[in-house]
Amino acid sequence: MTKPHAELRRALGSFATGVTIVTARDPGDAEHAAADVGLTVNSFSSVSLEPPLVQWCIARRAASFAAFERASHYSVHVLAADQQALSARFASHGIDRFAGLELERGPAGLPLLGGCVTRFVCRIEQRYAGGDHLILLGAVEQFETSDADPLVYLRGGYRQVLSSGAG
Ligand SMILES: Cc1cc2nc3c(=O)[nH]c(=O)nc-3n(C[C@H](O)[C@H](O)[C@H](O)COP(=O)(O)O)c2cc1C
Repeated sequence: MTKPHAELRRALGSFATGVTIVTARDPGDAEHAAADVGLTVNSFSSVSLEPPLVQWCIARRAASFAAFERASHYSVHVLAADQQALSARFASHGIDRFAGLELERGPAGLPLLGGCVTRFVCRIEQRYAGGDHLILLGAVEQFETSDADPLVYLRGGYRQVLSSGAG
């Protein structure tokens, strides 16, 4: 790469995405207690319909990286247009991201958030090295979806969809 990182970031940021929060239940190990983990993610995408597979990438330097290496499942929450504050919360350091949130529980104690457009419960099928990120391929075990408008992320900022209705 000859161009600086800032330019690559700007180029990648021209690809508009939805915004998700991915959560997992860290089962813990000899040195770590079990805990809920989650982070804001826009690298999510669909992979396959048959079998149903999705993927997203976690930065190796993310605080929850080891937890996602240990977890058996993750849940992807596609955020609604009115969930910008929740997106910011799950990208903030040094706070209890789950404080005060009403949670449901999925397989293996997976923490499930409410109020989102779509929710996928996935079993981690495969992990692939991807440079400074790890690619987490998930098999969709359950999902629920609605017609609510999603939150959009473009060029480092949040956007709303324009529901023109015109085809
Ligand atoms: C819109 C948005 C999208 C993000 N997408 C990703 C992503 O796909 N993968 C990732 O590892 N971090 C992503 N992040 C950054 C993480 O949410 C944030 O760095 C993470 O919560 C790290 O904090 P921690 O190290 O305290 O866990 C994104 C942040 C924002 C605001």
